Amino acid sequence: MMLFKERAIIHLDQTDSTNQYAWELLRQAPPPDGTVIVAQSQAQGRGQRGAEWESQPGANLLCSLVVYPHFLTAKNHFYLSKVVALAIQELLEEYLDKEVLLKWPNDIIVTHKKIAGILIEAAWNEQRMQQAVIGIGINLNQMEFNYAKATSTRLQSGKVWDAQDCLQSLLQKFEKYYFKLASGQLTELSKSYREHLYRLGQPTKFEYLGRQIEAMITGVDEDGKLRLHCADGQSLSCDLKEIKMWY
Ligand code: BTN
Repeated sequence: MMLFKERAIIHLDQTDSTNQYAWELLRQAPPPDGTVIVAQSQAQGRGQRGAEWESQPGANLLCSLVVYPHFLTAKNHFYLSKVVALAIQELLEEYLDKEVLLKWPNDIIVTHKKIAGILIEAAWNEQRMQQAVIGIGINLNQMEFNYAKATSTRLQSGKVWDAQDCLQSLLQKFEKYYFKLASGQLTELSKSYREHLYRLGQPTKFEYLGRQIEAMITGVDEDGKLRLHCADGQSLSCDLKEIKMWY
């Protein structure tokens, strides 16, 4: 099954950010659906919530995928995150032979540490997603991090993993899940995402609108909000800006 007609891969030694590079391409000459930009190092790697993405040059997989998911609406846009997260989850679990979990909304977790992150930036037109740049950072061979909660496949397995091999497998898996999304297999995608959801059903501490609460994750809504059952009996649906997990 081939979803993308041609798989153009642009290799860069160094760039500010592969997401940034992808947006410049989109502005100048929109590349074919499924184009990948991959870099050895980034001077200004972007993370979620305006954070920086730390990566030693040449050590990890840093890439961005350009897609045109016109079939996505504001209501179901979070399925794109699910698809990417599931592809990375499957890839890492096969490679590491350890449980790999998905921390809502966009982190990939092994042994309670972050091994990969996703940053999706999208452009909209009348309620439909026109273009999306899917930034993916997977920590492969880096051994030391400034961020205490970070890990890598090498730290987890002792093995060195070539970023090109990792990218090839990632693209195959992404294509498989993206095809499910494009063909409307939403229930199956939600079920798989839920099966791997980090801290589902476990009492957990969060910062919610600036105050600390204790709550249990009960699931993720259709529109991507995190559903919580609080210790005080209240139910909440929270978006990314409102909530942060303490883990
Ligand atoms: C996160 O904060 O978890 C998201 C991290 C996403 C990092 C990747 S690395 C490749 C791509 N280019 C960027 O500037 N960011 C993403």
